[in-house]
Amino acid sequence: MLPLLAAQESRAREVLPTEVLAWVLDGSGDGAFEGAWRSLRLRPHVLRDVTSVDVALDLLGTPLGSPILVGPTAFHDRLHPAAESATAAGARAAGSLMVWSMRASRPFEGTGWWQVYVLRNRQATLEHCLRARDAGASALVLTGDTPYLGTARRGPLDDLDQAPDATLDDIGWLAAETGLPVLVKGVLRRDDALDCLRAGAAGLVVSNHGGRQLSRTVPTAEALPEVVDAVEGRVPVLVDGGIRSGLDVLCALALGASAVLVGKPVMWALASDGAAGVEACLRGLSDDLAFVMGLAGCCSLADVDRSLLA
Ligand SMILES: Cc1cc2nc3c(=O)[nH]c(=O)nc-3n(C[C@H](O)[C@H](O)[C@H](O)COP(=O)(O)O)c2cc1C
Repeated sequence: MLPLLAAQESRAREVLPTEVLAWVLDGSGDGAFEGAWRSLRLRPHVLRDVTSVDVALDLLGTPLGSPILVGPTAFHDRLHPAAESATAAGARAAGSLMVWSMRASRPFEGTGWWQVYVLRNRQATLEHCLRARDAGASALVLTGDTPYLGTARRGPLDDLDQAPDATLDDIGWLAAETGLPVLVKGVLRRDDALDCLRAGAAGLVVSNHGGRQLSRTVPTAEALPEVVDAVEGRVPVLVDGGIRSGLDVLCALALGASAVLVGKPVMWALASDGAAGVEACLRGLSDDLAFVMGLAGCCSLADVDRSLLA
């Protein structure tokens, strides 16, 4: 883990109440998800001019300073009084993009994407998305692994009535009703990746919800290549789960991810130092990515491919 992230996490552990800590840590288990990234081995290039390393990209029409996004996580008011407003400010200052959780403690503001759970009440689901769209959200991230809350989660969180009857048809429905691109979050398999594309997904997020939904899921570092290979470059594939350093990001990009999302590190950063903490976390990861890309002989994201991995 990047030392800055470790410092932010330990500071957050000092300041957060026990029940909030337990909520954040639910499902994160034995470190297997982080370990899966760390077990990958790199094959760097030699003698490439890496005087200038550029980590910028364009993702679904949005220019971004780096491929490190803020993943959707709920209830930021539990972490900091300025809640999602502070997270968004930190992300903006770092040139990143924030995916707002549908369970955010503040209404969507500024720029970014909106994460949606399909609720039993489809009209209410749509109204959430239209409000976010009208406030500036430029894409939807439909979380597909949450027909109901997972066993790892405890506490007074069941305030939204999520739909166990959500299907692939909800992808096209949301895209048509909102006019926004819809990415599907929670994909871990080739067949599901192809089904989502056929149903109109504009992108996929390989995710196991940090272990908070079904337990014993495959680490995302292991699921990512299967999904990337199925998609064959037709839409961007993003990934989250246990990404804690520039090396982890580099490995994800080498396996074919267009970008990564970080969840818990941003929550720790917010709790430890508000917007400034979030900015430092995201900048720290981006700078670390540029540093290790240079060491691997890569000047731009286009230079990063699977040949970098053993
Ligand atoms: C406290 C907490 C709340 C979360 N809330 C949401 C949510 O509202 N919507 C969602 O799609 N994922 C949610 N997630 C899952 C994250 O988006 C992400 O998939 C997961 O945390 C793995 O990334 P990480 O290892 O960087 O934390 C949440 C995760 C945590 C830890």
